[in-house]
Amino acid sequence: MTATGRTVEIAPSILAADFRKLGEQVADALAAGCRRLHVDVMDGHFVPNISMGPLVVEALRPLAEASSAVIEVHLMIADADRYLDAFAQAGARAMTVHVEACPHLHRTVGAIRDLASQPGVALNPATPLGALDEILPDIDVALIMSVDPGFGGQRFIQSSIAKVARLRATLEARGLERIAIEVDGGVGPENVAALTKAGMTIAVAGTSVFNGGKPVGENIRILRTACAAIAPKR
Ligand code: DX5
Ligand code: ZN
Repeated sequence: MTATGRTVEIAPSILAADFRKLGEQVADALAAGCRRLHVDVMDGHFVPNISMGPLVVEALRPLAEASSAVIEVHLMIADADRYLDAFAQAGARAMTVHVEACPHLHRTVGAIRDLASQPGVALNPATPLGALDEILPDIDVALIMSVDPGFGGQRFIQSSIAKVARLRATLEARGLERIAIEVDGGVGPENVAALTKAGMTIAVAGTSVFNGGKPVGENIRILRTACAAIAPKR
């Protein structure tokens, strides 16, 4: 629990893991108490990079389930509807799609819900919050991208903090505080406190967890401590 009264969950992004020992690194994150694993799916169309798909989710599933952790897939792909079923079968219990890539967003979100997976919607840095207005009541997670999607290890875009605060205010005004605010890209010890204060409840962290200079568990503890250290809400 942080001083805002909200809990912040650290969701390690495996994109930054050492793939030669992916299982080991994920086990370290689970041992440190993480219960949400972030899997970045990139198709070389919506974003200029290609990463991983359902096979990786399936491989991680036993590890996640043994710890009651949720695997969330961040679908940075065109035509996400075609792949929802495959990701659900592979074990994804949360699926986030991009508003910029889904022309029939309401239908896509409904399909995710029908697959018993938590629906999330992501916004690129240049996409205004207003793009969420109509879909908010139907989703469980609103993901604010704090870098342009496609690569790990990019520099955090500072204006994302104010965007998170505006989204928090919207959720409060509309009585939708059950929706998680997730922030993804360049999140680390230097900005998690400000993001927590602004209203973030899930911090996606790739580089700062798997390349943070210390063992995975220690990097996660550093992030948690930074989240908890924020000034009390007045
Ligand atoms: C970017 C991905 C992020 C990224 C986060 O397109 O969605 O999840 O891997 O990694 P870091 O924390 O290294 O920015
Ligand atoms: Zn991501």
